[in-house]
Amino acid sequence: MSEPLRLGLAGLGTVGTGIVRIVQENAACLAARAGRPIEIGAISARSRSRDRGVDLSRYAWEDDPVALARRDDIDLVIEVIGGEDGPAKATATAAINAGKHFVTANKAMLARHGQALAEAAEARGVALRFEAAVAGGIPVVKSLIEGLAANRITRVMGVMNGTCNYILTEMERTGAPYAQVLEAAQKLGYAEADPSFDVGGVDAAQKLALLAAAAFGTRVDYEGMTVEGIERVSIADIEHAAELGYRIKLLGVARLTPRGLETRTQPCLVPSTSPIGTLEGVTNMVVLEGDFAGRIVMSGPGAGEGPTASAIMGDVVDIARGLIFPPFGQPAASLCHAPRAGTSGEAAYYLRFALADRPGVLARIAAALGESGVSIDRMRQGAHPGTTAPVLIVTHRCGRPALDRAVSVIETLDVCHDVPVVLRIEDV
Ligand code: HSE
Repeated sequence: MSEPLRLGLAGLGTVGTGIVRIVQENAACLAARAGRPIEIGAISARSRSRDRGVDLSRYAWEDDPVALARRDDIDLVIEVIGGEDGPAKATATAAINAGKHFVTANKAMLARHGQALAEAAEARGVALRFEAAVAGGIPVVKSLIEGLAANRITRVMGVMNGTCNYILTEMERTGAPYAQVLEAAQKLGYAEADPSFDVGGVDAAQKLALLAAAAFGTRVDYEGMTVEGIERVSIADIEHAAELGYRIKLLGVARLTPRGLETRTQPCLVPSTSPIGTLEGVTNMVVLEGDFAGRIVMSGPGAGEGPTASAIMGDVVDIARGLIFPPFGQPAASLCHAPRAGTSGEAAYYLRFALADRPGVLARIAAALGESGVSIDRMRQGAHPGTTAPVLIVTHRCGRPALDRAVSVIETLDVCHDVPVVLRIEDV
């Protein structure tokens, strides 16, 4: 058998520990598949003494991950430190500059620096792989870059944040409000102490930014994304959506349209019977649409020790096999600066108004929508104890600017008692 591939592991939290476990427990199958042994040569982490339940005694230790990245006895550096800049970025740069292959789970770093790091890796002839950065154990990057390489990708979408999907499904199941479910999710360890990246849509947007680049041959453009989270999703809307046959999901959607690249994460209604509409708990789901392959739906665990370490080691095995190609599936210099689409494409919308319950009110709402060219598909008035009635409207497909014009007129009417709710209904 050939020379071993020697790994330098930077970071020994949950995922790093999972990588050690895979290398130790699955050594024989890794070697058989890679055609050469895969060994950990050295590790760097903040604490050497902390008991992680794995035997680290046989590995060299570096306190500084940059020093680890520069070691002569390391062929490939795995970064599971996290963070957009700081030690993670320094480790990436040092590894690539030292001619080492580099595998990371770091979506935040790649969403900001993916283009520069891809260019650097290609210039040095080394691999930069990031399967674990998107949807944990689901091999979605590989599917896009390799399995669907013959397709023009028409849309990439999915539920790529398990914390948000857990919160939304728990709100639906228990009827508890957002804040209460978030607190429970934090106690269970799903949501971070500072959950803003998850619930604010940032985590999902970073993942989508990477997928969009791989799907459409565009430069990673995190700054160009529309990013909205689930903080304002209410139990009322979850329940009304269910009555209409929908569920609310935090969807990431990327499309290359004639207007430019449309990339957004936002709470959307999806039909309850669609694959995404059946998704429960922390599970992720990614849908890839190719012009020849059609629709590919993948679901699975989007986070956690085993799934994320599995994705990392899948990349490592590929590199051990000698599979080295541009990180985003085509040379970084050929990735184009796509214009930003600006607004999302046409869709049907769910609207909820709190309206005075008296004669002529609905006519005024319908008139405002009609004057903006927005056509009503379905309308329903909910039960209410007082003089304010919840009115639900599902529109026909329309452009968001026209809808926003109508809603801004409606919210100034004296019969409109609260801020209207507007949620997109995504075709899935
Ligand atoms: N925090 C993420 C989630 C997993 O809840 O899905 C890591 O990206």
